[in-house]
Amino acid sequence: MSRKPKQIAIYGKGGIGKSTTTSNISAALVEAGYKVMQFGCDPKADSTTTLRGGEYIPSVLDLLAEKRRVDAREAVFKGFGGIYCVEAGGPAPGVGCAGRGIITAVELLKQQRIFEDLDLDYVIYDVLGDVVCGGFAVPVREGIAEHVFTVSSADFMAIYAANNLFRGIEKFSSSGGALLGGIIANSINTDFQRDIIEDFAKRTSTPIVQYVPRSLTVTQAELSGKTTIEAAPQSEQADVYRALARHIAEHETSKVPTPLSQVELREWSASWAEHIVRMERADRERARAVA
Ligand SMILES: Nc1ncnc2c1ncn2[C@@H]1O[C@H](COP(=O)(O)OP(=O)(O)O)[C@@H](O)[C@H]1O
Ligand SMILES: [Mg+2]
Repeated sequence: MSRKPKQIAIYGKGGIGKSTTTSNISAALVEAGYKVMQFGCDPKADSTTTLRGGEYIPSVLDLLAEKRRVDAREAVFKGFGGIYCVEAGGPAPGVGCAGRGIITAVELLKQQRIFEDLDLDYVIYDVLGDVVCGGFAVPVREGIAEHVFTVSSADFMAIYAANNLFRGIEKFSSSGGALLGGIIANSINTDFQRDIIEDFAKRTSTPIVQYVPRSLTVTQAELSGKTTIEAAPQSEQADVYRALARHIAEHETSKVPTPLSQVELREWSASWAEHIVRMERADRERARAVA
């Protein structure tokens, strides 16, 4: 009898580091001996490239566009350490709904019992989530994933996207939607960035699962078409990703967050903006006093 894999969705605004983070989590989990599938749900279909030496794979929707009957195994490719790589793909720009694409892709694999046959421990969905469009809420709303994590930096737009996701989770929580595991705080290199994201986490009753610094090691690895775990296994950054993967693997109880309203979010960001101005003024005055 095969078990049901633990299903996790990683959300965040475009370019925030979802695919980088997700691929490193997958790589760290296979390294720890688990069976993992990474399921890219960004219409860009580039989630799994650093698991496959920089190579793109055809998406489920690409395959379905070519022929009516697709063997779901044709959409599953092996990557680093035996990770199963799948890309849902998306509609052509300007037509159709990306959410439908995700449902179609997940349904195809479910109907053909791929998750059970591969005897997976983890399925990790990498989902673009900066849009208020309901389509991207699919993995939350349909309960495809049980635990949702969001990648966010301390930048306002990333926090705005995270807050929108929290609102979606809150909305669907009463009808069997996914719950929130926490925030993966990416590109956090200063105390100040840490203070901002920590304050947002506190305001929304959300744990921060891991702080991930912005690092050149990640850039170098990406340029060679690899995850940090593969390209620089001895690096400090690889250990950060291993710790993150461990937290996610061990994570059990997700919750309903307490998102901020639009007005509260505006007031919150304005108060931080004032704080920044005050800090800069104090810095300038200190520098003048020294001179
Ligand atoms: N912690 C980090 N350190 C350095 N570069 C990072 C880090 N996280 C993400 N990046 C870089 O940011 C860019 C966007 O990341 P990506 O994972 O593709 O974002 P997303 O999937 O959210 O669109 C990539 O070039 C990636 O290498
Ligand atoms: Mg991506």
